[in-house]
Amino acid sequence: MKGDELVIDRLTKNFGNKIAVDRLSFSFSPGVYALLGSNGAGKTTLMRLICDILSPSSGEVRFNGREIGSLGENYRDILGYLPQSFGFYPNFTAEKFLFYMASLKGIDKKTAEKRIEELLESVSLSDEKKQKIKTFSGGMKQRLGIAQAMLSEPRVLILDEPTAGLDPKERVRFRNLLSVFSKDRIVIISTHIVSDIEHIADKILIMKNGELIRSGTAEELTDKIKDRVYEISTSYERLCEIEEKYTVININTEGENAVIRILSDEKPTENAKKCEARLEDLYLYCFNDSGVKK
Ligand SMILES: Nc1ncnc2c1ncn2[C@@H]1O[C@H](COP(=O)(O)OP(=O)(O)OP(=O)(O)O)[C@@H](O)[C@H]1O
Ligand SMILES: [Mg+2]
Repeated sequence: MKGDELVIDRLTKNFGNKIAVDRLSFSFSPGVYALLGSNGAGKTTLMRLICDILSPSSGEVRFNGREIGSLGENYRDILGYLPQSFGFYPNFTAEKFLFYMASLKGIDKKTAEKRIEELLESVSLSDEKKQKIKTFSGGMKQRLGIAQAMLSEPRVLILDEPTAGLDPKERVRFRNLLSVFSKDRIVIISTHIVSDIEHIADKILIMKNGELIRSGTAEELTDKIKDRVYEISTSYERLCEIEEKYTVININTEGENAVIRILSDEKPTENAKKCEARLEDLYLYCFNDSGVKK
């Protein structure tokens, strides 16, 4: 069987004279996609367009060849969505909330019972399932949000910053849950946290000012800066001088010194150490305000 295909075709969204998504085109087939971008890059707007919550100013989204607006309920049935800020029912218990969501999605009671039990276990909320949502911590609410998005075993799953507020242990659990779930499905996750997605995403999309500026596998993306990443330990006095000369990716403090990661075609200084290029380097480079970006 041929897998699903979700196509974004010159998709544009303006809010007044602000262009939030700018002629973005991409084709998604089953796999995990990470949407990386700084605040205001347009990630949430893009996701809401894909979920048919917002209508595009121009361009379109097609699922298996058909414009999503024309699919109506059929499209909603195959979609799971975790919004960036999620309004819950504070007086519902976690379990009751999931049953309620399942009934909205038309899932029969028997299937819902089994699925809800599995999901509560997967997001580590089994012991708290009888507790009211208003007593939940931020991370617990987030995990409940992830569970509701996965409830109907959607063929297209859109998660807007799912790892925000999760502690390290729950991040690992989330990654594992997703790697099992994502088989034969289209999963799109937005995040600022590169380390959360670099090992689970098949492809990475980098957005800046509403545009898709890079896309590819982590290897393809880091290949562009391979052999050009150096680390230099320097005093703060010399920092400005280096910043003027090179594209600085990152600066870390180490006692009296600054350890800086830079991009350079040649070894910049005697004590510079060549480093393996990481996705984080590329990401910071793309959002650094100096140097050539595109
Ligand atoms: N409803 C709206 N009305 C007006 N402007 C909006 C609206 N929604 C988004 N924008 C603007 O569109 C741009 C993209 O916003 P969006 O929320 O998509 O970014 P984001 O990448 O999700 O950011 P973040 O990482 O902070 O969640 C921003 O400049 C934002 O101010
Ligand atoms: Mg957002």
